[in-house]
Amino acid sequence: MSNLVRFGVSLEKELLQGFDSRIKEQNYTNRSEAIRDLIREDLVRKAWQEGKEIAGAITMIYDHHKREVVNKLMDIQHGFGGIIISTSHIHLDHHNCLEVVVLKGKPSQAQELSDKLKAVKWVKHVTLSMSSTGRDI
Ligand code: NI
Repeated sequence: MSNLVRFGVSLEKELLQGFDSRIKEQNYTNRSEAIRDLIREDLVRKAWQEGKEIAGAITMIYDHHKREVVNKLMDIQHGFGGIIISTSHIHLDHHNCLEVVVLKGKPSQAQELSDKLKAVKWVKHVTLSMSSTGRDI
């Protein structure tokens, strides 16, 4: 890459040792890549905090046999059509479904959708994966 910039960092020896052992656990081959990821992580967090356009995914587990749960989840999702790119539904076993809702749009809407889905009775687990459109990182 032609636009690579090198810079020096001063920090305490113990802090660097801790960092090196941590990135070794995570299988990084060098500090630069680990630092790049930390910076990206921070920029993604900032984008979510500042309401910039983000991408992400909601993963949820629920029992589709329970009364009205499927209809409720569908109704809620129809209210957020603007940020939902796609959904995948996987029948995990006789009772349990896993659904992944892929999102692109405003962080506040993604959080609101996640909260509403989580609040539905018989939904067992919901995670919101906060990621990025990839453009500014
Ligand atoms: Ni299912």
